[in-house]
Parts: sequence; structure tokens; C-alpha cells
Amino acid sequence: MWTPETLSSLASEKFEGTPLIVVSNREPYVHTKDNGVVEWSQPASGVTAGLDPILQACGGTWIAQGVGEADFEVADSQNKVAVPPDNPRYTLKRVRLSESDRKGFYDGMSNNGLWPLCHVAYTSPIFKESDWESYKKVNRIFADAILEEIKGRSAFVFIQDYHFALLARYLKLDNPSIITAQFWHIPWPDPEVLARCPWQEEILEGLLGNDLLAFHTTYYGTNFLNSVERATESRIDYDYRHIFMGGHRTSVRAFPMGVDFESINEQAKHKEVGNEVLRLKEEMGLADKFIGVGLDRLDYTKGVLERLNAIDRLLELNPEYKNRLVFLQLGAASRMQVDSYRDINDEINRLIERINIKYGNDVWTPVIRFSEDPGHTMRMATRVMADFYVVSSLHDGMNLVAKEFVASRHDEGGSLILSPFTGAADELRDAFVVNPYATDEFARTIDSAIKASPQEKRRRIISMRSVVRDNTIYKWAADLITAMTEFENQPIRVG
Ligand code: F6P
Repeated sequence: MWTPETLSSLASEKFEGTPLIVVSNREPYVHTKDNGVVEWSQPASGVTAGLDPILQACGGTWIAQGVGEADFEVADSQNKVAVPPDNPRYTLKRVRLSESDRKGFYDGMSNNGLWPLCHVAYTSPIFKESDWESYKKVNRIFADAILEEIKGRSAFVFIQDYHFALLARYLKLDNPSIITAQFWHIPWPDPEVLARCPWQEEILEGLLGNDLLAFHTTYYGTNFLNSVERATESRIDYDYRHIFMGGHRTSVRAFPMGVDFESINEQAKHKEVGNEVLRLKEEMGLADKFIGVGLDRLDYTKGVLERLNAIDRLLELNPEYKNRLVFLQLGAASRMQVDSYRDINDEINRLIERINIKYGNDVWTPVIRFSEDPGHTMRMATRVMADFYVVSSLHDGMNLVAKEFVASRHDEGGSLILSPFTGAADELRDAFVVNPYATDEFARTIDSAIKASPQEKRRRIISMRSVVRDNTIYKWAADLITAMTEFENQPIRVG
């Protein structure tokens, strides 16, 4: 069983003093101001929440975009600040981007282009040349920030996600002694879909600058190998899942990300969580209701409309739920500068209103939405009090929310209703698996999940808890560190 302590020992043994640098677009801590007073918080992001405990255990430097209004005020002359701010364990180095670079790189190429390209959710990607120029420029800016930090030495650089497809190649060309591993947290599309991207070759070549390229599932890795075979001149060893290009070898492997099971399990038992459950039940009149919960960062890939349509159908098919079932839809808005995100937000509100008008009455509101970040305690309380918890993504690299729900249920109660189009469905085989597009089946599955015997519910959650307990975020990090430190330095040839 991996713990922060055993991970920390592994890191010292494997890194042998070579610095570790983690790179992501989203920063793990943001400094803001309230009435002139500097405050800090952690953003709602599965990736930063998952990596922060790892950096706390292993130490190192995390390089990310500074977005808070007080971010650079609290940082030193190299834009560095020690974090967590209340108990420093590692260094956060912030990169400052101009508004136009940020827009083209993040709103544009990353979220209007690559995000819909990689997720089958029927939103078309938009590829603009000006966004691609910003994307290349920002990848270069990050490469320079990393190289400045490394100062010509060797280092392990662990890159996160689709914002930085070109970074590893830039780094290797400048300093071949760097070992790079990249985790692509979202799905990888099949070669035909990837071909919609006008810069697919540059993106593939950029990613092949890595020594290790990691995905949540073997399937995404296979899509990547097939994409490389289709679009580049390279040699692929399918048995070992190695790609050889320009004298450099990239190993493609799956590392399903986990959560901090023990910590979530313990936090869910806290008295303040219990009190929050009582408060919510009291304030919303939920004491005698079947409670359904959905918690998502607002995104059209999460299948929220499909889930609400299923609730609508459930109420239509089962009048016995009248006055007896309430569905809570929680989660903060995100990427609101992007049109498709504003549209989905409005559509969700309209659909909820329609459902509540259709079925609700003076004493019963069937669907309640919280569009602000619910915060830690409420998030935990809603997991603990849910009779059924719905994760209905249309496509999702992993979905850690499903694993967090399972880890919270120390009472061995509650049912998880899970889309098969999530990476998590590979592991959580005892969930009530449902196709989010099949509304009738979805409604029937919610009904079965509510009516399943207590023994059946218990059997399922116990089995899933053992899976989540065995594959924690610390194990994920230990496996990645072990894999990353196996590589010899491999130069990359230009051309
Ligand atoms: O799942 C992909 C991802 O980029 C995660 O890395 C992150 O948790 C989430 O989306 C949030 O995205 P953003 O940083 O754009 O708010």
C-alpha cells in the first residue's frame, strides 16, 4: 500500500538528487485579493488536486500559468512561491501570459480545438491559425521557463495534458539530457478523427519528444500508436508499445489515475460533514426523499443534459417518485469565455426549469442546481448522503469524481451510476453502468439502482472500494516515477 511516506522514499531513491519539475497549465494554488487582502485557494481541478499531494510528498518545482490577481505580487523575482502557503513543501513557479496569448492558447487551440477533437461529444473543433500560433508561442514560453530553471543540468520533467503537445520536443532539442514524461489526461481519438486537426503531424512529433507518454487506458494508447502509424514516418513496436522516430524512442503506456482513498474515506467521517448533511437535508426538505447527486465541472462532455433527460423520463415512468425524489446537480462553471460552455450552461438551466414546471409543486422541486463551487464540505456531504450518484460523461479520460464518491462511502451505501465512456468504467465494473444516450434505459437503471436490495448495493460498493483502495494516487505516482527513471537519456534529431 503506497503512502505519502513510502512515495517520498521511492522518489529520493529513484531521482538520486536529479530535480523533478512538474508542468501544467492550471496552477495548484491561486492568490487573489479580497478588499485589498491577499487570499489563496485551490482551483476546482481533478488534475491539480491529484498532483498536489504527490509534490508535497516528493518535493520539486511545479511550473504553471499564474492567473490570480495577487499571484505575481506574492512571488519572488523569479516568480516563485513556496506552497502550500500554510505549510510549504514544494515550489510553485508561475508563468505570466499576455491576455492575447492566453486566449489563443487556452480558449482557442486548447479548448476550442483539441478538447472537442479528443472527446466524442458532438461539438465540432474549431481550428484557427492564429490560435495555433499562440499555442506554439506559449509552449515555447513554458519551455524557456523550464530550461531557465534547469540551467543546463539533467532533470525529470513531468508534463500534464493537452495544453503542451509541443513542449517535450522543444525541451529535448535544447537540452537532450532531460528525461520527459507526459500524461495526456483526456481521451486520445482514433486516427480518422485526429486527421481533422490541420496540425496533427506537428502535434504527434511534439509528443514523440517524450520518453514516456502515458494515458489513463490502454485503448487511448492504442489510438495514439495507430495515429502515429497513419500520419508519420516512424517505426512502431506494437508488442512493447514503443515508437521510434528520429533515433528517439517513446514508450506509450497506461497508468489509470487514482485518488487518495484513505484521506477521502477519513474526511467523509468528519463531524462537520455529518453536520452539513443534516443542514442540507433540513434546508431542502430532503429527510424523506430519495437523493440523487451529479457533480461536474461544467462541461458539455459530462452528459448533464442526458442525465436530466433520464430524470425526466424516470419521473414520467414512475409516478411513485412524485414528492419523493430530488436530484441535486452541483458544480462550478468553467471556461466561460468559450461559446460552447456558455451554451451548455444555459441549456442546463432551461431543461431544469422545464422539468420542475412539468412535475414540481408547492412543496417539491425535483431538480435543484448549485452553479457555484460547492466547496469541500458540501461536496463531501452530498457524496455521503446520495442514494444514487450519477457520472454520465459522453466521453471522459478517467473521471476521478466517480472514484471520490466510492472512496467517501465508508458506510458501504449508495449506488454509482456510471457511463461506460469514462476511463473509470474500466476499473469500476460493479457500478450500474448505463449508456447516457439511451434515455429509457438510463431511467430504468436509476430506478433499479434505487430499488436494488441493500445487500446488492453493499456488494457493489464494497467491491469498487477495494479497487479504488488498491489503485491510489500514490500508487499511480510510484508507478510513473519508476517508469520515468528507467530511461536512458535519448537525444532527439532535428529534421
Ligand atoms: O480533464 C482535463 C482537464 O484539463 C484536467 O486536467 C482538469 O482537471 C480539468 O480539465 C480542468 O480544466 P481547466 O484547467 O481548463 O479548468
